[in-house]
Amino acid sequence: MRAPGKNGHLTVLGIETSCDETAAALVRRAADGRGETLGSVVRSQLDLHAAYGGVVPEIAARAHVEMLDAAIRQAMDEAKLDFAAIDAVAAAAGPGLVGGLIVGVTTAKAIALALKRPFIAINHLEAHALTAGLTDGLDFPYLLLLVSGGHTQLLIVKGVGAYERLGTTLDDALGEAFDKAAKLLGLGYPGGPEIEREAAKGRATIALPRPMLGRSEPHFSLAGLKTALRREAEARAPLSEHDITDLSASFQDAVADIVSDRTVRALELYRQRLGEGAQRTLVVAGGVAANRRLKTALQAVADAHGFRLVVPPPDLCSDNAVMIAWAGAMRLSQGLVDDLSAPIRARWPLDPDARPAIGAGVKA
Ligand code: KG4
Ligand code: ZN
Repeated sequence: MRAPGKNGHLTVLGIETSCDETAAALVRRAADGRGETLGSVVRSQLDLHAAYGGVVPEIAARAHVEMLDAAIRQAMDEAKLDFAAIDAVAAAAGPGLVGGLIVGVTTAKAIALALKRPFIAINHLEAHALTAGLTDGLDFPYLLLLVSGGHTQLLIVKGVGAYERLGTTLDDALGEAFDKAAKLLGLGYPGGPEIEREAAKGRATIALPRPMLGRSEPHFSLAGLKTALRREAEARAPLSEHDITDLSASFQDAVADIVSDRTVRALELYRQRLGEGAQRTLVVAGGVAANRRLKTALQAVADAHGFRLVVPPPDLCSDNAVMIAWAGAMRLSQGLVDDLSAPIRARWPLDPDARPAIGAGVKA
């Protein structure tokens, strides 16, 4: 491996293609551990998938092929860097849609090979988990609530590659629940921002269930809430504007209650596991972290339990390549690099030792 750049700086090119964003970024990590974004490009494929109400894997993979080279070029231009300045190339290698992952990983390996620099295979979830180190200079350990379209997990982040999963969803991910709720209310995709906008105009007057409240393990279950929402919507069909805003507000409130309750349980477990002296920080990451109602609820939870709440800015919470490059820089600083035979992993749990959660379509 080539020695780190001047003054112990590490400059890493990151590539993200695990879902429907084609992204490339350059990040620099100083010897003192501080990070800096030098260039970042995110090309959303939203309009390509909008007509289908969700991401179509084949369309996503093809679009990544078409857009990735230009995204990398643009990120390099933004950073005003020559390829020779790159110390390593990192790419999301899972979990995610296999077609897209192949595009990103193959491109990253080719660049690494041509530059004679290390390739680093990044777990997309680890990248979300480590982002707060870049944005807030946060040290380990901390509790992470990861809420996106594909994942809903509560994890203790102990260090690079060291995670203890406390809770996960037994069925739908939180973002997925927002997307399905929006669809059945006739709103657009992605559903989270649509529900949030409608909810702001309505009142949470419709009784909806809060599944899993009070359970000792901080798992989630959201399918029942979605079914209850469907029943309430069907009972009111055809839906007036007023129905849509009130159903949205009621759904969002139910979600906030569920997330608060599950997070409180996880905070308790965090203190039990790490002791009362451990740093008390709660980090929220993933696209759903953009939701203001949720943020307010989590701020109240954090305040009540003496935790600091850290929510990276929305563009670094939703999928991006800065987080991939940063995770790459963290790994590189510890000598954790991969060889060119590193595989793609459609499933890649952060905590392989986590006990299986019993449920229908459990997501690791
Ligand atoms: O992390 P992300 O950009 O992509 C992955 O799934 O990895 O998350 C996208 C998800 C979508 O399900 C979207 O509906 C949800 O995040 N989301 C929101 C909000 N903004 C995005 N959910 C609730 N409220 C929002 N404001
Ligand atoms: Zn993500």
